[in-house]
Amino acid sequence: MDTKTIGSPALSLQEVTKVFGQGPSAVRAVDAVDLEVSQGEVLLIQGPSGGGKTTLLTMAGGLLRPTQGDISITGVKLNGLSDKQVSHLRLMTIGFIFQSFNLLAALTAQENVEVVVRLAGAGKKEARRTAAELLASLGLARRLNHRPVNLSGGEKQRVSIARALANNPALILADEPTANLDSARGREVMALLRGIAKEQGRTVLCVSHDHRIRDIADRVLWLEDGRLRQLQAVKDPVCGMSLDESLAPVRLVLDRETYYFCGVVCRAAFLERRNAHEPAGVPSSS
Ligand SMILES: Nc1ncnc2c1ncn2[C@@H]1O[C@H](COP(=O)(O)OP(=O)(O)OP(=O)(O)O)[C@@H](O)[C@H]1O
Ligand SMILES: [Mg+2]
Repeated sequence: MDTKTIGSPALSLQEVTKVFGQGPSAVRAVDAVDLEVSQGEVLLIQGPSGGGKTTLLTMAGGLLRPTQGDISITGVKLNGLSDKQVSHLRLMTIGFIFQSFNLLAALTAQENVEVVVRLAGAGKKEARRTAAELLASLGLARRLNHRPVNLSGGEKQRVSIARALANNPALILADEPTANLDSARGREVMALLRGIAKEQGRTVLCVSHDHRIRDIADRVLWLEDGRLRQLQAVKDPVCGMSLDESLAPVRLVLDRETYYFCGVVCRAAFLERRNAHEPAGVPSSS
């Protein structure tokens, strides 16, 4: 199986949908998503909890099959591949950074990384050396023999990044890589991923709630209710202030329309004005 097609996007999704369950309780976690990520691009996808980010990323990594639609990784379509072929493609092409690290507790930092280098085909000696070099490049030269329980959150995150890089992947997929880190560490991790993408021509797709890392991405998209779209500039209907929809401090959903406010005072004024004119529906707000 050819694992790379020159000039293809690193990742392409066409009309990808994932439905969990059946009948009235079915959840459309990802709904007809079209997406292309170029080689060398750092793309950040943001959105509310339950919006479909992990589901999308897991499908992009070949860990979950879509209900409908096509996914291609470096030009190779996953649909026509068996599970075994998808695993092989994943091993050769993708590095996955899990939100919860997923490090093996019984293994040291070095062994956690070494396992992946070996799976990708290296011999024992080479794998040991590669793992040590990777960890050292991430500032963990003095932590090689530590088990996860003896590492800080930031250190565990860096081990999980080293493990994701261990197979020399063209595509790095990161699920909330800064979720367990403080602000400074979170930015450091993202800057590190950006550096890796730009210096080594790798592609990074990161999903995250974290607004503090937005400037590190080349492009930011929004995933909500399973649908992917561009972020929009919005206006507070009361004071007229321009807001970025994902950063607006207060929102109000009324009759299926979403309003964005600079604060609770404007929202209250909006509701008051509206109630004076017509009996309002039951609002839900955040
Ligand atoms: N295995 C599953 N079975 C049933 N429903 C699921 C499953 N996985 C996810 N879902 C549902 O799909 C929707 C999207 O979930 P997903 O985990 O992708 O959201 P998310 O954007 O990653 O959220 P968060 O920011 O909280 O991590 C949610 O409504 C969730 O309950
Ligand atoms: Mg998630």
